[in-house]
Amino acid sequence: MTDPPDAVGFLHDGSRSAEQTAALEWLDGTAAAAEPVRFDALADAGAADRFDVLWWHREAPLEASQSPLATHASAVERHLASGGGLLLTLRAMADVDALEVETVPPDAVGAETVTEPSGVLWRRLHDDHPAVEALDGLRLHLCDRGAVGAAAYESVLPARGEVLASTVRADHDLPHRMPVVGWDAAPGSVLGVGAPLAFDRPAAEAVAATRDRLLAGCLSAVADGARAPSRPRDADGMAAMRRKLDADDRPAYHFTAPANWLNDPNGLIRWNGRYHVFYQYNPAGPFHNTIHWGHATSEDLVRWHDEPVALSPSPDGPDRDGCWSGCAVDDGGTPTLLYTGGDGRRQLPCLATGADADLRRWEKHPDNPVIEAPPSDVDVLETEHWEAEFRDHCVWRESGRWQQIIGTGLVDRGGAALRYSSEDLREWRYEGPLLVGEWASDGTVWECPELLDLGGRRLLHVSNYEDVIYFLGRLEDGRFAVDRQGTLDHGDFYAPQSLHDGDRHVTFGWLPEARDLDAQWDAGWSGALSLPRVLSVGPDGDLRQRPAREVERLRTERLLDGATRELSAGERRRLDVAGRTLELDLEVALRDATTVELSVFESPDRAERTVVRYGNDGELVVDRTAASDDPRVTADTQRMAVPPYDEPLSLRCFLDRSVLELYANGRHCLTSRVYPTRDDSVGVSLAADGGRATVDDLSAWRLGDGYSRSPPVRDDRR
Ligand code: FRU
Repeated sequence: MTDPPDAVGFLHDGSRSAEQTAALEWLDGTAAAAEPVRFDALADAGAADRFDVLWWHREAPLEASQSPLATHASAVERHLASGGGLLLTLRAMADVDALEVETVPPDAVGAETVTEPSGVLWRRLHDDHPAVEALDGLRLHLCDRGAVGAAAYESVLPARGEVLASTVRADHDLPHRMPVVGWDAAPGSVLGVGAPLAFDRPAAEAVAATRDRLLAGCLSAVADGARAPSRPRDADGMAAMRRKLDADDRPAYHFTAPANWLNDPNGLIRWNGRYHVFYQYNPAGPFHNTIHWGHATSEDLVRWHDEPVALSPSPDGPDRDGCWSGCAVDDGGTPTLLYTGGDGRRQLPCLATGADADLRRWEKHPDNPVIEAPPSDVDVLETEHWEAEFRDHCVWRESGRWQQIIGTGLVDRGGAALRYSSEDLREWRYEGPLLVGEWASDGTVWECPELLDLGGRRLLHVSNYEDVIYFLGRLEDGRFAVDRQGTLDHGDFYAPQSLHDGDRHVTFGWLPEARDLDAQWDAGWSGALSLPRVLSVGPDGDLRQRPAREVERLRTERLLDGATRELSAGERRRLDVAGRTLELDLEVALRDATTVELSVFESPDRAERTVVRYGNDGELVVDRTAASDDPRVTADTQRMAVPPYDEPLSLRCFLDRSVLELYANGRHCLTSRVYPTRDDSVGVSLAADGGRATVDDLSAWRLGDGYSRSPPVRDDRR
């Protein structure tokens, strides 16, 4: 238990508002010796020493130049330097940048009119913080009516603090509004609570009780030197986050961020013998906002090591609101990133170069953005959020120049990939569209376009908000001539990117969650990456997709060894295999059956199960209608055609707690997110319907963990 403070100095600047008087009365009712203290009295030697906590509770607006915190910063700093705590509540948090602990002030400051129970949405990652020790649950209502002065971070993050909570209004989560931040001012600590923590308002009993407990927790937290957790920046911090959020539904060998939000894989590159994967990452929680580049490395593509965040938005830069997707290239020995910077309604290409051999430090180009505006001779789509939809980068070298494509949407036409070229990656010349899709069939905007050379044939894939569609063809005078088209994965898979590794292209995609935002908040993490897939073109000119051979290294135990199972009509057989982290390989010949079912994540009574169904209509279906007892998850069917229809179906299935990744005939992929809830939903069964079927070459392995929990060991002999 954290002890309450012995003495609290209640800061004010002369007069006291009704709200301040009410807060002081509340404080008088606690165990702490409370005393009002004028800011200007802090200058007296030893004035602050009597208090283990200084609390500034202010809701009235204040000009920055009049901030008493700024005027008396050195006295407050001295208090922190001697191990004291500082609590800034309501609008007082807006002035935190007057102190050395922070450089970026909250960007959403003003009066909030509360009409329904409102309060804080605490982060799962920090549910052991002393401020919430006496409280249950992550959603804490603090106020139910009235106008309250408030402060929060919304489109920027504190540079030095760690966000502890977002906002809840009634039962709506508002993760983007972040009013609770902790700062480590070692040996002292600072806590800001810009949420509606008000005393001069009537409040329902339960709401007032939660408010009182939270405030008492906050005072205790800053009093006993319990540091606000700073944002983890090293391997130990990353490992601690990953451990904290370990759960039954957290994939074991599909890559996930150590905590918080992950979307697209970015900047994939092999560098100095290691594979580097960067990814769209929000360090403030499991929701899409304030996007940074997370970073992980691997020696073998399947066992990952967490690295510190590689790119962060610059508060005054063209990437102020986020470092969005991009790629990495080797510019004559200099690792170089092209990514999209977001600033207000503008999104433009930015460049950064690697400043160390481990690709941990990046220097942003001083003249970012490297392209000032989208091309003016095409009609680039403007939307609610963006002046021009213009983002995501694929860069390669061809015809003696750097080539680049950027994703966009063209008015009345559809998604498009725009082509640029350059001598030096910094000055770009617009070369015209590489390909423009049909908006009705191919989507209105193309995100994350990528062009690969698969040995003479080119593959262009784009993500159109729904699917990842691909085109196979050739380049003719800088335009893409399409001869085949398809979907890269028919399930929960988006925004893939590839790395060129010797003679192969290895692709990772983002596997978004298939459960609602509240469930993601409660989990504390969101998003995974697919297994590494090798893309190639077969002798018939069609696309092939297979798991990279390194995936076999994850196998820890062989459970079935090429068995054959004959199934009669209506027969169901449970396999002698159980688990949530498995690989199952099999060949299915329908003979005269109409369908064959493979059920996985199956409970003994089959009430919970995920069914993979293959039918003589040539379709493969993943049926999630009974996959989870949790009402917050998607319960639908996902389907894909699996030609050729006249051969046995060869299937590789990867089960990984909340991921089911399927490869059919080495060509077609369907990845599903599923969330079995029961401990006994670990069974596997096979069944045939309408006639007999043969399942051949049935092999199963248990798969191991995909993370190395210790820092990478460098082998200098390589
Ligand atoms: C695709 C995408 C990209 C963008 C990034 C932002 O999922 O929307 O277009 O750069 O994610 O995180």
